[in-house]
Amino acid sequence: MTFLGIDLGTSGLRVLLIDEDGRPIGATERHYQATHPHPGWSEQNPADWIAALDAAIEELRDTYPQFADLRGIGVAGHMHGATLLDKNGDVLRPCILWNDTRSHAQAAKLDGTDHVRTLSGNIVFPGFTAPKLEWVREHEPEVFAKTAKVLLPTAYLNAYLCGDYVADMSDSAGTSWLDVGERCWSETLLSAGHMHQDQMPRLVEGTEEAGQLRPELLRKWGLTGPVSVAGGAGDNAAAACGIGAQNEGQGFVSLGTSGVLLSARDGYHPAPETALHTFCHAIPGRWYQMGVMLSATDSLNWLARITGQNPIELTSKLDGDLKNPGPVRYLPYLAGERTPHNDAEIRGSFTGLAAETSREDLTRAVLEGVAFGLRDSFEALLATNAKLDQLIAIGGGSASRYWIRLIATALGVPLSLPKSGEFGAALGAARLGMIAATGASTHSIMTVPDVRETIDPDANLIGVFDEAYGAFRAAYPAIKSIQ
Ligand code: XUL
Repeated sequence: MTFLGIDLGTSGLRVLLIDEDGRPIGATERHYQATHPHPGWSEQNPADWIAALDAAIEELRDTYPQFADLRGIGVAGHMHGATLLDKNGDVLRPCILWNDTRSHAQAAKLDGTDHVRTLSGNIVFPGFTAPKLEWVREHEPEVFAKTAKVLLPTAYLNAYLCGDYVADMSDSAGTSWLDVGERCWSETLLSAGHMHQDQMPRLVEGTEEAGQLRPELLRKWGLTGPVSVAGGAGDNAAAACGIGAQNEGQGFVSLGTSGVLLSARDGYHPAPETALHTFCHAIPGRWYQMGVMLSATDSLNWLARITGQNPIELTSKLDGDLKNPGPVRYLPYLAGERTPHNDAEIRGSFTGLAAETSREDLTRAVLEGVAFGLRDSFEALLATNAKLDQLIAIGGGSASRYWIRLIATALGVPLSLPKSGEFGAALGAARLGMIAATGASTHSIMTVPDVRETIDPDANLIGVFDEAYGAFRAAYPAIKSIQ
């Protein structure tokens, strides 16, 4: 038996095939873009996800004969995106993504509505799904009127795979329509956002079966089946499954397009006043908390783009020992910020530029700015008594040793790098597929990866990084007052 994990990311889609011992057999990716038709907007065409999936599956099937033994699939996806379907199941407009901040006014209004924070357990951030629908209602009433279903990106792929509208709890927790403590759609939240229960997909736990792979896809993919499709998960919950983070004290730092500091929690203890996100885990009866910064590797990618380099070229210039914080400060708010500021309108900035400032100084400043942004989330988690003695580092940015050392030092916490190359959301998704297909226990499947190396904070530099973090914190109100 083999199992497939699909990670529908912001910049591309990754498929990973694993065997029944959970070992990777092979993986491949296809890339696509987000479009930004106006400042603060971020959209994707769901047809691009399907094209990427079809092409990636074709390659996997042609390369690995074990694909023919496929029994279970799990999908992980970037969270909060609003894919609107009409009554025939056709997509009405491009999906509005998690890093789109156009609906900040609608978010603030919903956030101030009675019971909304209490039931959803979170601030209503502009990136969440409910304010997006409020924006559509106000600005595209003809689209709103035709909206028969709203699917998150993961649920959209679930529908493609099994022909049914099904979403899991972890992803649905980021809509502001779910009662996150009770794990069900909330009539109060839905009506606050002018939505109805029948516009929502059916809810299952991430480990439960959402349906079975459609006969057309079985034929097209050359399978005999049956193949179970799991409920799946939002990408962060899936990544937590991939590194076996189920219990208090287990967590990760993820350096992807967004930067995430996540901690599994024992029980449901929302803390919206800290701008932390409190969401259902993809594992039944569990929750997690995380701080989210919107532009982590996106900050580095931006610098690479405008300097005509690629991100690896930029960071490889910094190889070697961690240096003192540089004189240039970077605020990583290219698309606004969630934790801790909940500010959609703030934008990034450099301060401390001098005639001699080099490209390398700017790279250092960007890596440091992202590290300090993660420290903000770390402080917010500490304030809720989360136990964060050691974290696993995942995501594309974790390939830079310099960055990992820097983040370990800025947080004052050792960061472990897993041994195998596969431990992120795609692995978590494949594990969900395996549980849905076989009924295996989460305990036996969601194991912690072997660690290749643990990178300790640089004890000599913790003090100077603390000071620089203080300056970073002070820069936000100063920059805010002049932007
Ligand atoms: C989480 C969030 C991002 C996306 C994209 O709240 O918005 O982490 O899931 O990865």
